[in-house]
Amino acid sequence: MSQIDSIPKRLEGKIAVITGGSSGIGLATAQRFVKDGAYVFMCGRRESELELALNQIEKNVTGVQCDVSNLADLDMLYGIVKERGPIDVLFANAGVWEFVHLEDITEAHFDKIFSVNVKGLLFTVQKALPLFRDGGSIVLNASIGGSRV
Ligand SMILES: NC(=O)c1ccc[n+]([C@@H]2O[C@H](COP(=O)([O-])OP(=O)(O)OC[C@H]3O[C@@H](n4cnc5c(N)ncnc54)[C@H](OP(=O)(O)O)[C@@H]3O)[C@@H](O)[C@H]2O)c1
Repeated sequence: MSQIDSIPKRLEGKIAVITGGSSGIGLATAQRFVKDGAYVFMCGRRESELELALNQIEKNVTGVQCDVSNLADLDMLYGIVKERGPIDVLFANAGVWEFVHLEDITEAHFDKIFSVNVKGLLFTVQKALPLFRDGGSIVLNASIGGSRV
């Protein structure tokens, strides 16, 4: 074993949950977390994308097909996580984006955005709380669009 191999990894033994892990920022985070020693649970709605992402990570990862705007799906996700142990890190990353001018916003567009980015985010965090290890971290992914005028 080299000296580098004997250095403990930053997330060794930690359990992380990443919503929206099948592409983009979520996938990159999952890859980094596993490299740093964590066991990662990640979710997304499309099974095919999730499978492709899991193949890129290969080990110490479980993919769960789950829509964060569906509370039954979240219960199923956390039921699976609970079997492994307490959560150390939650990255609430799943989100959708569609640019629409104010005058063109429809009720369907509003419901789609708010069901994932607001309802999904809130219940992703709320339902994880009973499973959290003391001192764990919750990271919410958002947009600077919310703070720019
Ligand atoms: N990239 C940027 O410049 C940027 C800027 C500001 C904010 N953000 C935010 O950062 C987060 C990640 O962005 P990204 O660029 O990496 O996006 P992305 O590549 O589109 O990835 C989004 C991920 O979330 C999943 N997802 C979407 N809706 C979901 C739902 N209802 N339940 C579960 N999973 C869901 C997607 O998989 P499925 O479609 O299969 O569910 C996908 O894995 C998003 O919340 C986004 O709004 C990104």
